[in-house]
Amino acid sequence: MADKELHIESRLAQIGSVEEPVTGAINYPIYQATAFRHPRLGQSTGFDYSRTKSPTRAILEAAAAKLESGDAGFACSSGMAALQTIFTLFAQGDHLIVSLDLYGGTYRMIERILGKYGITASYVDTNDLDALEQVRQPNTKALIVETPTNPLMMVTDIGAACTWAKRHGILTVVDNTLLTPFFQRPIELGADIVIHSASKYLGGHNDVLAGLIVTKGKELSEEIAFLHNSIGAVLGPTDSYQLMRGMKTLALRMERHESNALAIARHLQSHPQIAEVFHPGLPEHPGHEIQSRQASGNTGIFSFKVKDARLVEPILRHLDLIAFAESLGGVESLMTYPAIQTHADIPAEIRDAVGVDDRLLRFSVGIEHVDDLIADLDRAIEAARAEIEGGQAV
Ligand SMILES: Cc1ncc(COP(=O)(O)O)c(C=O)c1O
Repeated sequence: MADKELHIESRLAQIGSVEEPVTGAINYPIYQATAFRHPRLGQSTGFDYSRTKSPTRAILEAAAAKLESGDAGFACSSGMAALQTIFTLFAQGDHLIVSLDLYGGTYRMIERILGKYGITASYVDTNDLDALEQVRQPNTKALIVETPTNPLMMVTDIGAACTWAKRHGILTVVDNTLLTPFFQRPIELGADIVIHSASKYLGGHNDVLAGLIVTKGKELSEEIAFLHNSIGAVLGPTDSYQLMRGMKTLALRMERHESNALAIARHLQSHPQIAEVFHPGLPEHPGHEIQSRQASGNTGIFSFKVKDARLVEPILRHLDLIAFAESLGGVESLMTYPAIQTHADIPAEIRDAVGVDDRLLRFSVGIEHVDDLIADLDRAIEAARAEIEGGQAV
């Protein structure tokens, strides 16, 4: 059956399962070799040196390209390595437009590293075409979009942003970490490049650090292939295997992440200690309509603000099932405090303007039973309330 005719669930489950011609191994093996014997002078098996191309990584890269409807895939040693590889497309004097609310590490790389090479950036709400137009410069080379954003879940209309960028000859890069190709495929909506921290939902088990790049178009794919090999921040064979193993169950996991997160977001909306809940699956979220149009589902992370900042520390201390840890997208539930963890490198004035303040918590909802998660959260919030009010937990 042609791959294109299969549903995404089937394509995910079957990653690498028909590609091993010698033994018929269902799970594509780990080829640990870095060097490959040449049959003759001027001949190659297709593999020469593993930084350039390695068999296990190649299966993962081909699967990623297909899942994201792109032309080529590149597996990197982390999400940041993937971003760095993309950023080396740019040179001194180039300007980037970047989503205002974004992963702190991406901000840090742009400001503290690209800045040294004379590359500048403007941060705006990338869903606001007027704002994009206002910051556009003659030397603007790329639009970098996270949607939904981490942690505030701001949504960008990918189609509209890409149409605007194309009109001005600007390259579009979409970080699809939070939704994965199971729920959203930015290249189908007009993006040139998709990037993933595959350490999150794609890997899915908090046990592999990886990044993926998928490109559309021959020239761009060749350019990234050159940079990927030249920079060398590539994914090793064992991690490539581990990532594929995680991706095989992506569909099942995403469905559970989505339903758990939405149920908990609804529960927190009416909680007396919670001021605000940021989840694009809620009809009152400003990005709800766009998200429902361009994605077939919702991610498993969302953020919420407690009414009193003094609740934060005891909530994190009293959580039991939910771990206080800074990542997202794994089967285990994690709670993060963005202001001092994932977004600490973003200056306080920018964080406050966006809303990443000292009352915001980010919840990466795992695949545990939703009732257990709600019970853990309710108990921790009640214990925290009792502590700050000097009373007894009920
Ligand atoms: C949206 C997003 N992009 C990129 C990254 C960087 O990925 P990695 O941690 O795999 O380097 C992260 C990490 O948290 C992220 O959340």
